[in-house]
Amino acid sequence: MDLRRFSPSQRQIVEAGDGPLSVLAGPGSGKTTVLAGRIAYLVEQRGVPPAAILAITFTTAAAATLRQRLAGVLGDAAQDLTITTFHALGLRLIRQWSQELGFVNSAPAVFGREDARSLLREVAGEFGLEIAAEVPGRASDPWAVSLSRLSSAVDRHRLGSVKRSHGDNENGEFDEELLRPLADAYESLLRRRGAVDYPSMLTLPLQLFATEPRTLQLVQDAYRWVLADEFQDTSKTQYALLQKVVEPHHNLAVVGDPKQAVFGWLGADPSLLLEFPRQYPEARVFPLDQNHRSTGIVVALSNAIAAPLKGGRESWTGNAQGPRARLYAAADENDEARFVAAEIGGLLGTRQIEHAGEVGVLYRTNAQARAVALALRTAGLPFRVRADADLFGGPEVRDLVAYLRLAHCPSDGPALARVVNTPPRRLRAIERALRKRPVPAAELPVWAAKLGGAPARHRLEQFLALLQDLHDSTLGSSPVQALECVLLQTGYPEWLTAQKDRASRLRRTEEFRAVLAESPAPDLATWLTDMHLGQIDGHAPTGAGSTVLSTIHSAKGAEWPVVFVIGLEDGLLPHTRPGSPGASHQQEDEERRLAYVAFSRAQVLLYLVYCRSRQLATDGEVGRVEPRRPSRFMLSLPPELVERVNAGRAA
Ligand SMILES: Nc1ncnc2c1ncn2[C@@H]1O[C@H](COP(=O)(O)OP(=O)(O)OP(=O)(O)O)[C@@H](O)[C@H]1O
Ligand SMILES: [Mg+2]
Repeated sequence: MDLRRFSPSQRQIVEAGDGPLSVLAGPGSGKTTVLAGRIAYLVEQRGVPPAAILAITFTTAAAATLRQRLAGVLGDAAQDLTITTFHALGLRLIRQWSQELGFVNSAPAVFGREDARSLLREVAGEFGLEIAAEVPGRASDPWAVSLSRLSSAVDRHRLGSVKRSHGDNENGEFDEELLRPLADAYESLLRRRGAVDYPSMLTLPLQLFATEPRTLQLVQDAYRWVLADEFQDTSKTQYALLQKVVEPHHNLAVVGDPKQAVFGWLGADPSLLLEFPRQYPEARVFPLDQNHRSTGIVVALSNAIAAPLKGGRESWTGNAQGPRARLYAAADENDEARFVAAEIGGLLGTRQIEHAGEVGVLYRTNAQARAVALALRTAGLPFRVRADADLFGGPEVRDLVAYLRLAHCPSDGPALARVVNTPPRRLRAIERALRKRPVPAAELPVWAAKLGGAPARHRLEQFLALLQDLHDSTLGSSPVQALECVLLQTGYPEWLTAQKDRASRLRRTEEFRAVLAESPAPDLATWLTDMHLGQIDGHAPTGAGSTVLSTIHSAKGAEWPVVFVIGLEDGLLPHTRPGSPGASHQQEDEERRLAYVAFSRAQVLLYLVYCRSRQLATDGEVGRVEPRRPSRFMLSLPPELVERVNAGRAA
């Protein structure tokens, strides 16, 4: 490897000896680069076996990129590195020791947020809690609690990060005395249903380590060098997992930027990074202040946005000053989207960029993707959207996702209920009953016999046998191979061919296949986890040459020569929930950190766009048009670094 690529301060980190170390540095300073460099250095210069290295990244896509990068240096040896996300690691441990954890017969089903919430609704009922109706427009009972708020509070409790009695803290809404038994009851129901959700992907391995110390010892023997990227977004539970693994040797390297912490709502705790040396007094702490990614203007604007935030350090850059940021005030969201498309067209036309893949469009909420996607499609510009699978298609995609879940775990209750009679298997009555009340898979045949006699039982058993076959034939498959098995074995495409709108529905199925084919996820379980987390990349016909549409959360760690930050309005960035009077200080700081992440993705040209009015859609209903104000965050920007532009000029 060529160590001259690194700056002297970066090189110190790459070559640092064993023991704990942390890197606290701003965006674009080379944290991820150094992490990759250190792995290559360990293998090449120090003869560490690749299989002894565990690297944690924030997304599966980041893991794939890191592996690819290392394959460039290490060749085939890179295949033996373990590069994974916390969730995928947890899931792997759970599957490896599923018997010990009490999952009989098969590996656990992977529950997404919807499934988890309906489970919580059941449990809350047993506790006599009234759950507020989530029908828009209907006034809710003041005693009723919001399911989504309760669910986040329970999750945070399970991940061990409930802060007590902060008046302006959302967690303060629910009492610890309520959350503890509620969380226990929820977890035991989850286990009875043979499923895991996100928090349990982390908590179960910890429980496993506690009850079966030999499993921990095996893991500790396997991974003797551990490195973690984006450490500011690590939760206490994730940290606890890492600490267990490195207990015998303390070979833990963590890199991150406290000012880019944007997952507080998932229990992330940036103080873990700041207080790393307290946990490991022998730790060395390295700063990196030079930004290698962005122009002087982009660095200055990013610094300005971040200035009011505590912690972290300011960056400087030796790069060129570059063009001023361009600010556009759109009339509404359609105008905003057309502006984005026209500017990309202009940049391509004037050869300022070579292909559309040099552009990222970032927004606060998934709903904002739709208008931009439409405008780019109309303009004939290639793009891909990063979102969850639901966004890519209609019911057929949901059906296929259900089948993929069943291929992974044939007793996955919610998935079973969805497709038990799709395509039709004369199990309509069973389907209806299942949607009202979940029944454990093992009890299904007896239950079906009660409901529809021996024939119903027989048909249901046939269906369960089909699922078992599907499971067996997809073991060890990639996500797209698994989908191919689903299409082949379930008769789904044949049924679809006989439906109305078959052309568009088959096309969406084909698009979905393409999405899976391009997925970096190594296996079905990882893909399902990513899907629930909204981290699936849509299909783009031209691959690398397409503009990426992404939420700011999912854009962490990435960079593009040109970045559009859209929806820079009060209410969107900072995002305040409908009905809540305003964001608390903590929430507003997290929103500011999001803006900081967004700005600092740009290498050269940053576009800032807001709408003067916007149609607010609420749950599928056509909403009213509302006047909007530019984001208060823009008040922090030095005006001389920003140029106001109009639509329709040559870029
Ligand atoms: N010493 C260097 N010389 C030139 N380019 C560098 C150097 N170090 C890093 N870079 C480049 O700078 C860019 C940013 O690096 P990297 O993504 O590692 O930063 P980061 O600190 O991880 O950023 P973020 O906080 O956004 O994740 C990359 O394009 C990388 O190749
Ligand atoms: Mg990085």
